Amino acid sequence: MQSFDYMTPTRLIFGKGVVEQLPEVMTGYGKKVLLTYGGGSIKKMGLYDKVKELLSDFEIYELSGIQPNPKYDPSVLDGVRICKENDIDVILAVGGGSVLDCSKAIAAGAKYDGDPWDLISYKVKAQAALPIVDIITLAATGSEYDPGGVISRTETNDKIGYVDPLLFPAVSFLDPTFTFTVSKKQTAAGCADAMNHIMEQYFCEDSTLLNDGFMEAALKSLMINAQKCLENPEDYTARAEMMLCCTYGCNRIYSLGNSQSGWPCHGMEHALSAYYDITHGEGLAIITPRWMKHILSDKTVDRFVKYGINVFGIDASLDGFEIAEKAIQATHDFFESMGIPMHLRDVGIDESRIEEMAQHVADNEGLENAWAPLLKEDIARIFTDSL
Ligand code: NZQ
Ligand code: ZN
Repeated sequence: MQSFDYMTPTRLIFGKGVVEQLPEVMTGYGKKVLLTYGGGSIKKMGLYDKVKELLSDFEIYELSGIQPNPKYDPSVLDGVRICKENDIDVILAVGGGSVLDCSKAIAAGAKYDGDPWDLISYKVKAQAALPIVDIITLAATGSEYDPGGVISRTETNDKIGYVDPLLFPAVSFLDPTFTFTVSKKQTAAGCADAMNHIMEQYFCEDSTLLNDGFMEAALKSLMINAQKCLENPEDYTARAEMMLCCTYGCNRIYSLGNSQSGWPCHGMEHALSAYYDITHGEGLAIITPRWMKHILSDKTVDRFVKYGINVFGIDASLDGFEIAEKAIQATHDFFESMGIPMHLRDVGIDESRIEEMAQHVADNEGLENAWAPLLKEDIARIFTDSL
């Protein structure tokens, strides 16, 4: 087992109706609030009005229109400007991972005198950040329990995972009923994203029985509960369990003591959604089985055998490579069964920029050091196999 240094300072408040505690919780952080949200889903579901009513004693400023794959310009820049001009005390992010990620970059940018891109691109280390409270409305990213935010810069096709312990939310409200309105497409994409977060930690050199069991159980729970959510979007128990599996996703709690995998599928997917603005979870679902096939070898086969037997119940008496291939096919079939388009062409990506994207990933993601190392040619091959 590897040594580790771990702390999560985020308070999770989970359950139906917990948002009633919002005024009491927010009081601890100050009166001037920047309320951030996306394209309007929180208004449609009545959550915007609810938050405004609960915070009627607070001074609220707003940043709306944060898009999926949140953009540095204008969202991060606008948010930083509003915080500085109005001396904001705390950010309240209400929405999916994109709203929260954008808010994290704003929180750090608000406490920095220079161009916030210096922080996101790791040129300068942040010294402080505004506190963030969030009400997460989509089970997927785990941003509500992790110190990262993923920000896109359109003109350079960059999509950077900006990670800093200062970016852990102070408090995350998790009410599964707020996810009842999530579409089938986003429910499936959220499940694929969370499953991939687990796989990125599972497929590594050095793991433990404890972590393997935790992650195998979470993968099974996600598959069972996401299907239930797709059949009945208002199934509280299924939405609740799916939400918690997602919340743990990028917090490292699933894999404390494991060696690093390099998060190869995320490294590759971030290029796809940077160049083509596709849904992150769909990009991952398309790439994952092709990545698995590409890296299957004498070195990696045993991990796939364990995954196949314990997650999909594949017959343990079969030959190792046969089990691995069945496991990879089962992974593909599960994503497809949720209605996810399983080819890059289905989401508007053709071969024209594969070489350029592969070079971008090879230059920026460090995948030559992944558990199964990937060079530019490997990345291009995986993209091509995903077409
Ligand atoms: O913009 P609105 O109108 O709010 O609609 C959103 C958006 O269109 C909608 N939505 C959210 N909650 C809803 C809802 N619709 C109906 N009812 C609700 N309750 O869903 C759409 C997608 O929202 P988005 O926030 O983009 O989805 P998600 O939570 O999957 O976030 C994706 C982003 O997170 C990044 C991804 O790269 C992508 O940019 N990631 C962040 C991570 C992190 N911070 O740890 C890790 C992940 O690996 C990931 O990279
Ligand atoms: Zn992800």
